[in-house]
Amino acid sequence: MLIRMPNRRTATNVVAVMLVFLFLIGLVLPSSRTTVRDLLFTKGDATPAPKQQDPPRPKYKPTPTYLPPPIKDNFPLLATSKPPPIPQWNQPRSDMHKEYDLPVAPPLLIGFTRTWPLLLQAVVSYITAGWPASQIYVVENTGVQQANARGQLSLQNPFYLNHTVLKTLGVNVITTPTLLSFAQLQNFFLSLTYTHSWPYYFWSHMDVLALSFEDGREGLTPPYNQPGYKTIYELALTALRDARAPGKKWAIRFFAYDHLALVNPEAYEDVGGWDTMIPYYMTDCDMHTRLTMRGWGQEEAKAGIITDVAAALEDLSALYRVEGVAVRFTDPNPPPPKEEGDKPKTRKRWAQEEAVVDKRDTAASQHDTRGEDPNLQRWHELRKISDKMFQHKHGDRERNTWQLGQHGGEGEPFHYDAAGFAEALDLITETGREVFRRKWGHRGCDLISGAGLKYDDAWKVEKDWKKR
Ligand SMILES: *[C@@H]1O[C@H](CO)[C@@H](O)[C@H](O)[C@H]1NC(C)=O
Repeated sequence: MLIRMPNRRTATNVVAVMLVFLFLIGLVLPSSRTTVRDLLFTKGDATPAPKQQDPPRPKYKPTPTYLPPPIKDNFPLLATSKPPPIPQWNQPRSDMHKEYDLPVAPPLLIGFTRTWPLLLQAVVSYITAGWPASQIYVVENTGVQQANARGQLSLQNPFYLNHTVLKTLGVNVITTPTLLSFAQLQNFFLSLTYTHSWPYYFWSHMDVLALSFEDGREGLTPPYNQPGYKTIYELALTALRDARAPGKKWAIRFFAYDHLALVNPEAYEDVGGWDTMIPYYMTDCDMHTRLTMRGWGQEEAKAGIITDVAAALEDLSALYRVEGVAVRFTDPNPPPPKEEGDKPKTRKRWAQEEAVVDKRDTAASQHDTRGEDPNLQRWHELRKISDKMFQHKHGDRERNTWQLGQHGGEGEPFHYDAAGFAEALDLITETGREVFRRKWGHRGCDLISGAGLKYDDAWKVEKDWKKR
Protein backbone atom coordinates (compact mmCIF):
# COMPACT_ATOMS: atom_id res chain seq x y z
CA MET A 1 0.00 0.00 0.00
CA LEU A 2 1.37 3.38 -0.96
CA ILE A 3 -0.57 5.45 1.61
CA ARG A 4 -0.96 3.83 4.90
CA MET A 5 -3.89 4.93 7.03
CA PRO A 6 -2.54 6.40 10.28
CA ASN A 7 -3.66 4.80 13.43
CA ARG A 8 -6.04 6.64 15.71
CA ARG A 9 -3.46 8.08 18.09
CA THR A 10 -1.29 9.50 15.37
CA ALA A 11 -4.32 11.12 13.74
CA THR A 12 -5.31 12.84 16.99
CA ASN A 13 -1.77 14.15 17.38
CA VAL A 14 -1.67 15.52 13.84
CA VAL A 15 -5.00 17.31 14.31
CA ALA A 16 -3.86 18.79 17.62
CA VAL A 17 -0.59 20.06 16.12
CA MET A 18 -2.48 21.61 13.19
CA LEU A 19 -4.88 23.42 15.51
CA VAL A 20 -2.02 24.91 17.57
CA PHE A 21 -0.33 25.90 14.29
CA LEU A 22 -3.45 27.68 13.01
CA PHE A 23 -3.83 29.45 16.33
CA LEU A 24 -0.24 30.71 16.16
CA ILE A 25 -0.68 31.94 12.60
CA GLY A 26 -3.79 33.73 13.75
CA LEU A 27 -1.76 35.55 16.38
CA VAL A 28 1.01 36.54 13.93
CA LEU A 29 -1.14 37.77 11.01
CA PRO A 30 -2.27 41.30 11.84
CA SER A 31 -5.67 40.90 10.20
CA SER A 32 -6.65 37.84 12.15
CA ARG A 33 -4.77 38.81 15.30
CA THR A 34 -7.49 41.18 16.44
CA THR A 35 -10.13 38.57 15.89
CA VAL A 36 -8.21 35.99 17.89
CA ARG A 37 -7.39 38.54 20.58
CA ASP A 38 -11.03 39.61 20.81
CA LEU A 39 -12.11 36.02 20.95
CA LEU A 40 -9.75 35.30 23.84
CA PHE A 41 -9.62 38.50 25.86
CA THR A 42 -12.78 40.51 25.31
CA LYS A 43 -15.00 40.47 28.31
CA GLY A 44 -18.64 41.43 28.10
CA ASP A 45 -19.13 43.69 25.05
CA ALA A 46 -18.12 41.61 22.07
CA THR A 47 -17.74 44.60 19.67
CA PRO A 48 -16.15 47.53 21.50
CA ALA A 49 -16.10 50.95 19.79
CA PRO A 50 -12.72 51.58 18.11
CA LYS A 51 -10.53 53.48 20.62
CA GLN A 52 -9.95 57.14 19.74
CA GLN A 53 -6.16 57.46 19.19
CA ASP A 54 -4.55 60.80 20.12
CA PRO A 55 -3.04 62.46 17.02
CA PRO A 56 0.78 62.42 17.21
CA ARG A 57 2.15 65.56 18.78
CA PRO A 58 5.78 66.78 18.59
CA LYS A 59 7.66 67.55 21.77
CA TYR A 60 9.11 71.03 21.59
CA LYS A 61 12.55 72.04 22.83
CA PRO A 62 12.41 74.55 25.68
CA THR A 63 12.21 78.16 24.42
CA PRO A 64 15.55 79.87 24.88
CA THR A 65 15.39 82.04 27.98
CA TYR A 66 17.89 84.48 26.52
CA LEU A 67 18.46 85.87 23.04
CA PRO A 68 21.06 88.44 22.07
CA PRO A 69 19.63 91.94 21.50
CA PRO A 70 18.74 92.99 17.94
CA ILE A 71 21.65 94.28 15.86
CA LYS A 72 21.91 97.88 14.70
CA ASP A 73 22.82 99.43 11.37
CA ASN A 74 26.55 100.11 11.71
CA PHE A 75 26.83 102.59 8.85
CA PRO A 76 23.77 104.84 9.37
CA LEU A 77 25.30 107.64 7.31
CA LEU A 78 24.66 105.72 4.07
CA ALA A 79 20.88 106.02 4.54
CA THR A 80 21.11 109.74 3.85
CA SER A 81 24.34 110.40 1.99
CA LYS A 82 27.22 109.06 -0.07
CA PRO A 83 30.14 107.52 1.81
CA PRO A 84 32.69 110.04 3.09
CA PRO A 85 35.97 110.38 1.16
CA ILE A 86 38.60 107.85 2.11
CA PRO A 87 41.74 109.23 3.78
CA GLN A 88 43.64 111.02 1.05
CA TRP A 89 46.92 109.12 1.63
CA ASN A 90 45.11 105.82 1.12
CA GLN A 91 43.43 106.76 -2.16
CA PRO A 92 44.65 104.33 -4.83
CA ARG A 93 46.19 105.76 -7.98
CA SER A 94 44.26 104.68 -11.07
CA ASP A 95 45.49 101.52 -12.79
CA MET A 96 48.05 100.94 -10.08
CA HIS A 97 48.25 97.28 -11.08
CA LYS A 98 49.95 98.35 -14.33
CA GLU A 99 52.80 99.79 -12.27
CA TYR A 100 53.28 96.21 -11.12
CA ASP A 101 53.35 94.64 -14.59
CA LEU A 102 49.86 93.24 -14.27
CA PRO A 103 47.71 93.47 -17.39
CA VAL A 104 44.62 92.56 -15.35
CA ALA A 105 43.76 93.99 -11.94
CA PRO A 106 43.61 91.09 -9.45
CA PRO A 107 40.22 90.96 -7.71
CA LEU A 108 39.72 90.64 -3.98
CA LEU A 109 36.99 88.06 -3.30
CA ILE A 110 35.14 88.11 0.01
CA GLY A 111 32.65 85.32 0.64
CA PHE A 112 29.55 86.08 2.70
CA THR A 113 27.00 83.78 4.32
CA ARG A 114 25.89 85.38 7.58
CA THR A 115 26.31 88.54 9.68
CA TRP A 116 26.09 91.64 7.51
CA PRO A 117 27.63 94.13 10.01
CA LEU A 118 30.87 92.15 9.92
CA LEU A 119 30.95 91.91 6.13
CA LEU A 120 30.29 95.62 5.77
CA GLN A 121 33.06 96.34 8.25
CA ALA A 122 35.54 94.13 6.37
CA VAL A 123 34.67 95.76 3.03
CA VAL A 124 34.80 99.32 4.37
CA SER A 125 38.08 98.64 6.17
CA TYR A 126 39.72 97.38 2.95
CA ILE A 127 38.41 100.40 1.02
CA THR A 128 39.48 102.97 3.60
CA ALA A 129 42.88 101.24 3.88
CA GLY A 130 43.39 101.80 0.14
CA TRP A 131 41.99 98.78 -1.72
CA PRO A 132 40.17 99.96 -4.88
CA ALA A 133 36.45 99.32 -4.34
CA SER A 134 35.97 98.41 -8.01
CA GLN A 135 38.32 95.46 -7.52
CA ILE A 136 36.43 94.05 -4.52
CA TYR A 137 33.91 91.27 -5.21
CA VAL A 138 31.56 90.23 -2.46
CA VAL A 139 30.48 86.67 -3.19
CA GLU A 140 27.01 86.34 -1.70
CA ASN A 141 26.77 82.73 -0.63
CA THR A 142 23.58 82.83 1.42
CA GLY A 143 21.32 80.37 -0.36
CA VAL A 144 18.49 82.93 -0.36
CA GLN A 145 18.47 83.23 -4.16
CA GLN A 146 17.27 86.69 -5.33
CA ALA A 147 15.82 87.70 -1.94
CA ASN A 148 18.64 90.11 -1.02
CA ALA A 149 18.91 91.59 -4.51
CA ARG A 150 15.17 92.33 -4.26
CA GLY A 151 15.55 93.78 -0.78
CA GLN A 152 13.19 91.20 0.75
CA LEU A 153 15.14 90.41 3.92
CA SER A 154 15.28 92.45 7.11
CA LEU A 155 18.40 93.49 9.01
CA GLN A 156 17.74 90.93 11.76
CA ASN A 157 17.83 88.07 9.25
CA PRO A 158 21.24 86.34 9.53
CA PHE A 159 21.50 86.14 5.71
CA TYR A 160 20.68 89.82 5.16
CA LEU A 161 23.00 91.60 2.72
CA ASN A 162 22.32 95.06 1.34
CA HIS A 163 23.06 95.18 -2.40
CA THR A 164 22.31 98.90 -2.55
CA VAL A 165 24.91 99.70 0.09
CA LEU A 166 27.59 97.62 -1.63
CA LYS A 167 26.80 99.32 -4.95
CA THR A 168 27.00 102.73 -3.28
CA LEU A 169 30.45 101.78 -2.04
CA GLY A 170 31.44 100.81 -5.59
CA VAL A 171 31.86 97.13 -4.72
CA ASN A 172 30.77 94.25 -7.00
CA VAL A 173 28.42 91.48 -5.86
CA ILE A 174 28.33 87.96 -7.27
CA THR A 175 25.59 85.66 -5.99
CA THR A 176 26.17 81.90 -5.82
CA PRO A 177 23.32 79.83 -7.30
CA THR A 178 22.96 77.80 -4.09
CA LEU A 179 24.49 77.69 -0.64
CA LEU A 180 28.05 76.37 -1.05
CA SER A 181 30.29 74.83 1.60
CA PHE A 182 33.68 76.42 2.27
CA ALA A 183 35.45 73.99 -0.10
CA GLN A 184 32.81 74.50 -2.79
CA LEU A 185 33.10 78.27 -2.43
CA GLN A 186 36.86 78.05 -2.93
CA ASN A 187 36.31 76.04 -6.11
CA PHE A 188 33.71 78.63 -7.15
CA PHE A 189 36.43 81.30 -6.78
CA LEU A 190 38.57 79.19 -9.11
CA SER A 191 35.70 78.93 -11.59
CA LEU A 192 35.38 82.74 -11.56
CA THR A 193 38.97 83.00 -12.82
CA TYR A 194 37.88 81.18 -15.98
CA THR A 195 34.73 83.29 -16.37
CA HIS A 196 36.54 86.60 -15.92
CA SER A 197 40.02 85.62 -17.18
CA TRP A 198 41.66 86.53 -13.87
CA PRO A 199 45.27 85.30 -13.81
CA TYR A 200 45.45 85.72 -10.00
CA TYR A 201 43.13 86.65 -7.20
CA PHE A 202 43.11 87.64 -3.57
CA TRP A 203 40.51 86.35 -1.15
CA SER A 204 39.76 87.46 2.37
CA HIS A 205 37.74 86.19 5.29
CA MET A 206 34.74 88.41 6.06
CA ASP A 207 35.32 88.51 9.82
CA VAL A 208 38.37 90.74 9.65
CA LEU A 209 39.26 94.39 10.00
CA ALA A 210 42.06 95.58 7.70
CA LEU A 211 44.37 98.52 8.27
CA SER A 212 47.36 99.79 6.29
CA PHE A 213 50.69 100.33 8.06
CA GLU A 214 50.03 104.06 8.33
CA ASP A 215 52.65 104.40 11.07
CA GLY A 216 55.28 102.82 8.80
CA ARG A 217 56.82 99.37 8.96
CA GLU A 218 60.52 98.55 8.73
CA GLY A 219 61.41 97.12 5.34
CA LEU A 220 57.90 97.56 3.95
CA THR A 221 56.74 101.16 3.95
CA PRO A 222 57.49 104.53 5.51
CA PRO A 223 54.67 106.29 7.46
CA TYR A 224 51.64 107.61 5.59
CA ASN A 225 52.98 111.16 5.18
CA GLN A 226 56.32 110.27 3.62
CA PRO A 227 57.22 109.62 -0.01
CA GLY A 228 57.13 105.94 -0.93
CA TYR A 229 54.28 105.12 1.50
CA LYS A 230 52.51 101.93 0.44
CA THR A 231 48.98 100.95 1.44
CA ILE A 232 47.86 97.39 2.11
CA TYR A 233 46.81 97.23 -1.55
CA GLU A 234 50.15 98.36 -2.91
CA LEU A 235 52.04 95.99 -0.60
CA ALA A 236 49.75 93.18 -1.77
CA LEU A 237 50.59 94.05 -5.39
CA THR A 238 54.27 94.07 -4.41
CA ALA A 239 53.88 90.55 -2.97
CA LEU A 240 52.23 89.45 -6.21
CA ARG A 241 55.05 90.90 -8.32
CA ASP A 242 57.62 89.12 -6.12
CA ALA A 243 55.70 85.83 -6.33
CA ARG A 244 55.66 86.08 -10.13
CA ALA A 245 59.45 86.39 -10.31
CA PRO A 246 60.77 83.85 -12.83
CA GLY A 247 61.59 80.35 -11.58
CA LYS A 248 59.04 80.30 -8.75
CA LYS A 249 56.44 77.57 -8.57
CA TRP A 250 54.04 79.30 -6.19
CA ALA A 251 50.49 78.57 -5.12
CA ILE A 252 49.60 80.96 -2.31
CA ARG A 253 50.83 83.95 -0.39
CA PHE A 254 49.33 84.22 3.10
CA PHE A 255 48.88 87.58 4.78
CA ALA A 256 48.27 87.60 8.56
CA TYR A 257 47.82 83.82 8.86
CA ASP A 258 45.24 83.28 6.14
CA HIS A 259 43.03 86.26 6.83
CA LEU A 260 43.98 87.46 3.36
CA ALA A 261 45.48 85.18 0.72
CA LEU A 262 46.79 85.55 -2.81
CA VAL A 263 46.13 82.59 -5.12
CA ASN A 264 47.75 81.30 -8.28
CA PRO A 265 44.92 79.43 -10.07
CA GLU A 266 47.45 77.37 -12.06
CA ALA A 267 48.50 75.64 -8.83
CA TYR A 268 44.91 74.96 -7.75
CA GLU A 269 44.22 73.48 -11.14
CA ASP A 270 47.26 71.21 -10.92
CA VAL A 271 45.92 69.49 -7.77
CA GLY A 272 42.34 69.33 -8.97
CA GLY A 273 41.02 72.08 -6.73
CA TRP A 274 39.62 71.74 -3.22
CA ASP A 275 38.17 68.43 -2.06
CA THR A 276 34.47 69.22 -1.66
CA MET A 277 33.99 65.94 0.24
CA ILE A 278 35.75 67.73 3.12
CA PRO A 279 33.44 70.74 3.26
CA TYR A 280 34.81 72.79 6.19
CA TYR A 281 37.55 72.20 8.73
CA MET A 282 40.57 70.12 7.62
CA THR A 283 39.84 70.94 3.98
CA ASP A 284 42.51 73.68 4.08
CA CYS A 285 44.89 71.12 5.52
CA ASP A 286 44.07 68.72 2.73
CA MET A 287 44.43 71.37 0.01
CA HIS A 288 47.60 73.04 1.25
CA THR A 289 49.33 69.72 1.83
CA ARG A 290 48.43 68.46 -1.63
CA LEU A 291 49.89 71.66 -3.07
CA THR A 292 53.09 71.06 -1.09
CA MET A 293 53.21 67.42 -2.22
CA ARG A 294 53.31 68.65 -5.80
CA GLY A 295 55.91 71.28 -5.17
CA TRP A 296 53.75 74.42 -5.09
CA GLY A 297 55.20 76.98 -2.68
CA GLN A 298 53.13 78.74 -0.03
CA GLU A 299 54.81 81.57 1.80
CA GLU A 300 53.83 84.31 4.16
CA ALA A 301 53.95 87.94 3.15
CA LYS A 302 53.07 91.24 4.82
CA ALA A 303 50.72 93.86 3.48
CA GLY A 304 48.86 95.32 6.46
CA ILE A 305 47.27 94.64 9.81
CA ILE A 306 44.38 92.25 9.23
CA THR A 307 42.68 91.42 12.51
CA ASP A 308 40.35 88.53 13.17
CA VAL A 309 37.19 89.96 14.80
CA ALA A 310 33.71 88.88 15.89
CA ALA A 311 32.23 92.31 16.53
CA ALA A 312 31.70 95.38 14.40
CA LEU A 313 32.38 99.05 15.06
CA GLU A 314 29.24 100.91 16.09
CA ASP A 315 29.78 103.43 13.32
CA LEU A 316 31.94 102.56 10.34
CA SER A 317 32.39 106.28 9.60
CA ALA A 318 35.27 105.95 12.06
CA LEU A 319 37.23 104.07 9.40
CA TYR A 320 36.98 107.17 7.18
CA ARG A 321 38.39 109.14 10.15
CA VAL A 322 35.25 111.28 10.27
CA GLU A 323 35.69 113.89 12.99
CA GLY A 324 33.73 113.35 16.21
CA VAL A 325 32.75 109.73 15.52
CA ALA A 326 33.37 107.51 18.53
CA VAL A 327 35.63 104.52 17.87
CA ARG A 328 33.64 101.88 19.73
CA PHE A 329 32.25 98.40 19.25
CA THR A 330 29.43 96.49 20.89
CA ASP A 331 29.33 92.78 21.44
CA PRO A 332 26.74 91.48 18.93
CA ASN A 333 26.34 88.32 20.95
CA PRO A 334 26.79 89.22 24.63
CA PRO A 335 26.83 86.45 27.23
CA PRO A 336 23.46 85.72 28.84
CA PRO A 337 22.97 87.39 32.22
CA LYS A 338 24.54 85.29 34.99
CA GLU A 339 22.14 83.11 36.93
CA GLU A 340 22.34 82.70 40.67
CA GLY A 341 24.69 79.93 41.69
CA ASP A 342 26.49 79.77 38.32
CA LYS A 343 29.90 78.31 38.88
CA PRO A 344 32.74 80.02 37.05
CA LYS A 345 33.74 77.79 34.14
CA THR A 346 37.23 76.41 34.01
CA ARG A 347 39.42 78.70 31.96
CA LYS A 348 42.74 76.86 32.16
CA ARG A 349 42.50 75.44 28.67
CA TRP A 350 42.53 78.84 27.06
CA ALA A 351 45.18 80.35 29.28
CA GLN A 352 47.77 80.17 26.52
CA GLU A 353 45.61 81.90 23.94
CA GLU A 354 44.63 84.55 26.44
CA ALA A 355 48.30 85.21 27.12
CA VAL A 356 48.80 85.89 23.42
CA VAL A 357 45.79 88.17 23.44
CA ASP A 358 47.08 90.06 26.45
CA LYS A 359 50.48 90.57 24.83
CA ARG A 360 48.89 92.00 21.69
CA ASP A 361 46.67 94.22 23.74
CA THR A 362 49.51 95.62 25.76
CA ALA A 363 51.63 96.31 22.70
CA ALA A 364 48.90 98.37 21.10
CA SER A 365 47.59 100.13 24.18
CA GLN A 366 51.03 101.05 25.50
CA HIS A 367 51.42 103.35 22.54
CA ASP A 368 51.22 106.88 23.81
CA THR A 369 49.38 109.14 21.39
CA ARG A 370 49.80 112.40 23.30
CA GLY A 371 51.27 115.13 21.15
CA GLU A 372 51.03 112.94 18.07
CA ASP A 373 49.94 114.00 14.59
CA PRO A 374 46.09 113.84 14.71
CA ASN A 375 45.97 111.55 11.65
CA LEU A 376 48.22 109.02 13.33
CA GLN A 377 46.31 109.49 16.56
CA ARG A 378 43.09 108.42 14.83
CA TRP A 379 44.87 105.51 13.17
CA HIS A 380 46.22 104.36 16.53
CA GLU A 381 42.72 104.49 17.96
CA LEU A 382 41.56 102.13 15.20
CA ARG A 383 44.55 99.90 15.80
CA LYS A 384 43.74 99.72 19.50
CA ILE A 385 40.08 98.99 18.97
CA SER A 386 40.91 96.23 16.49
CA ASP A 387 43.12 94.65 19.14
CA LYS A 388 40.31 94.89 21.66
CA MET A 389 38.00 93.23 19.15
CA PHE A 390 40.52 90.45 18.64
CA GLN A 391 40.70 89.98 22.37
CA HIS A 392 36.91 89.94 22.57
CA LYS A 393 36.75 87.20 19.94
CA HIS A 394 39.46 85.00 21.36
CA GLY A 395 39.16 85.76 25.06
CA ASP A 396 36.03 83.74 25.73
CA ARG A 397 36.10 80.67 23.57
CA GLU A 398 32.92 79.31 25.05
CA ARG A 399 30.91 81.73 22.97
CA ASN A 400 33.05 82.28 19.92
CA THR A 401 29.88 82.36 17.94
CA TRP A 402 29.73 85.62 16.02
CA GLN A 403 27.37 83.82 13.69
CA LEU A 404 24.64 83.61 16.34
CA GLY A 405 24.03 87.30 16.99
CA GLN A 406 21.37 87.71 14.33
CA HIS A 407 18.43 85.36 14.64
CA GLY A 408 15.43 87.07 13.06
CA GLY A 409 13.79 86.92 9.66
CA GLU A 410 10.93 84.49 10.41
CA GLY A 411 8.52 84.33 7.51
CA GLU A 412 10.92 85.94 5.04
CA PRO A 413 11.84 84.20 1.77
CA PHE A 414 14.15 81.21 2.18
CA HIS A 415 14.05 81.53 5.96
CA TYR A 416 16.08 78.91 7.83
CA ASP A 417 16.19 78.53 11.60
CA ALA A 418 19.41 80.23 12.78
CA ALA A 419 20.30 77.78 15.54
CA GLY A 420 19.39 74.83 13.32
CA PHE A 421 21.68 76.18 10.61
CA ALA A 422 24.55 76.35 13.09
CA GLU A 423 23.88 72.86 14.41
CA ALA A 424 23.64 71.36 10.92
CA LEU A 425 26.93 73.00 9.90
CA ASP A 426 28.61 71.50 12.96
CA LEU A 427 27.43 68.05 11.92
CA ILE A 428 28.59 68.46 8.32
CA THR A 429 31.90 69.79 9.58
CA GLU A 430 32.42 66.75 11.78
CA THR A 431 31.61 64.42 8.90
CA GLY A 432 34.22 66.27 6.85
CA ARG A 433 36.83 65.59 9.50
CA GLU A 434 36.03 61.90 9.26
CA VAL A 435 36.34 62.00 5.47
CA PHE A 436 39.79 63.55 5.91
CA ARG A 437 40.80 60.80 8.38
CA ARG A 438 39.71 58.06 5.97
CA LYS A 439 41.17 59.74 2.91
CA TRP A 440 44.67 59.91 4.41
CA GLY A 441 44.52 57.21 7.11
CA HIS A 442 45.83 59.91 9.44
CA ARG A 443 44.11 62.13 11.93
CA GLY A 444 46.37 65.18 12.06
CA CYS A 445 47.24 67.86 9.56
CA ASP A 446 50.86 66.66 9.40
CA LEU A 447 50.30 64.31 6.46
CA ILE A 448 53.89 64.56 5.21
CA SER A 449 55.98 64.95 8.37
CA GLY A 450 53.73 62.86 10.61
CA ALA A 451 52.66 60.12 8.22
CA GLY A 452 55.11 60.15 5.28
CA LEU A 453 52.27 60.47 2.79
CA LYS A 454 52.60 61.37 -0.90
CA TYR A 455 50.14 62.95 -3.32
CA ASP A 456 49.03 59.64 -4.84
CA ASP A 457 48.44 57.98 -1.45
CA ALA A 458 44.99 59.55 -0.98
CA TRP A 459 42.36 56.87 -0.25
CA LYS A 460 45.01 54.14 -0.72
CA VAL A 461 46.32 53.74 2.82
CA GLU A 462 45.14 52.01 5.97
CA LYS A 463 44.63 54.11 9.06
CA ASP A 464 47.81 54.66 11.03
CA TRP A 465 46.32 54.61 14.53
CA LYS A 466 45.10 51.80 16.74
CA LYS A 467 41.72 51.58 18.43
CA ARG A 468 42.10 52.10 22.13
C1 LIG B 1 19.79 99.11 2.19
O1 LIG B 1 20.43 100.27 2.71
C2 LIG B 1 19.85 101.49 2.30
C3 LIG B 1 20.75 102.59 2.80
O2 LIG B 1 20.97 102.50 4.16
C4 LIG B 1 18.45 101.57 2.85
O3 LIG B 1 17.83 102.76 2.44
C5 LIG B 1 17.65 100.36 2.38
O4 LIG B 1 16.39 100.35 2.97
C6 LIG B 1 18.37 99.08 2.72
N1 LIG B 1 17.67 97.95 2.13
C7 LIG B 1 17.15 96.98 2.88
C8 LIG B 1 16.48 95.89 2.15
O5 LIG B 1 17.23 96.97 4.08
